[in-house]
Amino acid sequence: MLVANWKMQLPYEEALSWLRTYSKEVTKSLETRNNKLVICPSFTEIADARRFINNRIMLGAQDVSSHERGPYTGDVSPLSLAQLGCKYTLIGHSERRQQYGETDAIVAQKAHLLMQHGIEPIICVGETRQERDEGSTVAVLEKQLILIAQLLSEQPEATASIAYEPVWAIGAQQIPRAHDISDIFRALRSFLEKNGVKQSCALLYGGSVNERTIKDLGLSVADGFLLGRASVDSETLKKIILSC
Ligand code: PGA
Repeated sequence: MLVANWKMQLPYEEALSWLRTYSKEVTKSLETRNNKLVICPSFTEIADARRFINNRIMLGAQDVSSHERGPYTGDVSPLSLAQLGCKYTLIGHSERRQQYGETDAIVAQKAHLLMQHGIEPIICVGETRQERDEGSTVAVLEKQLILIAQLLSEQPEATASIAYEPVWAIGAQQIPRAHDISDIFRALRSFLEKNGVKQSCALLYGGSVNERTIKDLGLSVADGFLLGRASVDSETLKKIILSC
């Protein structure tokens, strides 16, 4: 699975024009490789982006409210996302953790609501450069995931994906070594199992994935990739799809 996190890169008209221009070609590439792509535009584009959904392209959101309805100015309800056909929603992206003070508890609350409404949360986790240098990557990820693990163990029918995105690799030029990612994923799988999570969660990698770095990473390293910059550039995106 590939996930396109468009962030706030394309304003409404540009996002719709991107979809009008490229969604057919992208779908063909996806068909060639038997792959699926979740496109996560801004909230304002979600309703109109539905026209471009097919059996290869799905729709996701970049965030959601931690409440279902009520006096939460500026928030978007998980109910609205479900009604608009969002199948996935990113939560806990490091940009939201750092810039909007999103805590692990808020992320878990969002995951809970999404699961209730049949939307699969893609929970983003990742360590800073300093945490990595201190050797605390796995401890940081486990802390970010403990409430999620509890939630998943209580709701064995719910599905969730986890996106490992080292903060230092996002919007950068650097990626971790493939075997470091494999070690981290091994540690995460055993952590989830120890905490009673029975369902198998897809483990995605994100952070500076492009048509070159994906070759260094190797496809077997993850169940999928979360793409930022590379997902907005249609040529790069097609190259990535065709190399998967
Ligand atoms: P990047 O962003 O691919 O531009 O590094 C990834 C992300 O933030 O999800």
